[in-house]
Amino acid sequence: AQGHVLEVGAGTGLNFAYYDPRQVECVEAIEPDPAMLRYAQRRQVQSAVPIHLHQARVEELPFPAASFDSAVATLVFCSVEEPARGFAEIRRVLKPEGLLLLVEHIRAASPRMARLQDLLTPLVKRCAGNCHWNRATLVTLTKAGLRVISRRDEGRGLLPLVIVQAVKE
Ligand SMILES: C[S@@+](CC[C@H](N)C(=O)[O-])C[C@H]1O[C@@H](n2cnc3c(N)ncnc32)[C@H](O)[C@@H]1O
Repeated sequence: AQGHVLEVGAGTGLNFAYYDPRQVECVEAIEPDPAMLRYAQRRQVQSAVPIHLHQARVEELPFPAASFDSAVATLVFCSVEEPARGFAEIRRVLKPEGLLLLVEHIRAASPRMARLQDLLTPLVKRCAGNCHWNRATLVTLTKAGLRVISRRDEGRGLLPLVIVQAVKE
């Protein structure tokens, strides 16, 4: 990430330590859950770059259009209530040359494994903060007008993980 950075669904702030002060001016970190925000506050003060915390959802970002150089989301879109709206908001606030950096677990490519994800998701989302194992998150991202420019696949089975860079279409 570089420049003015948006972090979506910052959780307890685990990513804050990884922002490089030589590249990043400041981070606007959003998180809807007040309990998570309290943990994030502790990591905010230890960070090498300025971090501003906001209680907000990705579906309604409290920032003007074209204001960020990078947006970061790690393991967030599995639990967002309205992912299509969330990606549309990220697209709105990214500058024309801005970069989205995403780590997500996604719907399995194998139909058998995807069916198993469909079966387990109603249970998992109740126990794990609305986490959906069966979301085709990269399809949703593309439909929202973002384009994947690099993709690394990690993990397999029920939790295939992708590490993705995307830009505005
Ligand atoms: C599995 S945690 C990941 C936290 C952090 N990104 C990390 O990698 O450690 C998912 C986070 O997404 C947040 N979240 C859920 N719905 C959201 C939404 N609509 N907008 C922004 N964040 C959301 C949750 O509150 C939670 O903190």
